[in-house]
Amino acid sequence: MSQEPNVAPYDSEPEDHSFTRRGFVKVALGGVCAAYGVAVAYPVYRYLNSPVEKAAAASKVREVKLPDADQLPKGSALMFKFGTAPALLIHHEDDTWVSMSAVCTHLGCTVEFQPAQSRIFCACHGGEYDARTGAVTGGPPPKALEVYTVTPMEGGMTITRS
Ligand code: FES
Repeated sequence: MSQEPNVAPYDSEPEDHSFTRRGFVKVALGGVCAAYGVAVAYPVYRYLNSPVEKAAAASKVREVKLPDADQLPKGSALMFKFGTAPALLIHHEDDTWVSMSAVCTHLGCTVEFQPAQSRIFCACHGGEYDARTGAVTGGPPPKALEVYTVTPMEGGMTITRS
């Protein structure tokens, strides 16, 4: 004569794993789609909301007078404000004058003139610009610095945005 073992019965209903897996796949796909959307939208947002574009839009100033700027030694630069944005006036060794925006076109850091390398440099991410034309010569900046017109005046220089 056999006896039934005295154990608690299993839950008679089988576990349904399909809903859990399906739910997980839905959540995972939703997360991937959301991450993809952010990856596409963020660069567009950054471009439209760039500090360079905002600085240019905020500054309505067309002309700046710099008294005594004609005394600037050759091979050096003067940093000044063009409206609300920093700008550079460079007196090159060959006695030519150049002025341009000092706002890096990458993410808006302030650039500096490096006479030893004859370049304009952005220390934030290593952006480099030509010290005469403002053209990008290295690094991540997407476009050249805005160049201004330099006009000598009595006792100084006038810088004009065209
Ligand atoms: S902000 Fe100038 S290189 Fe990035």
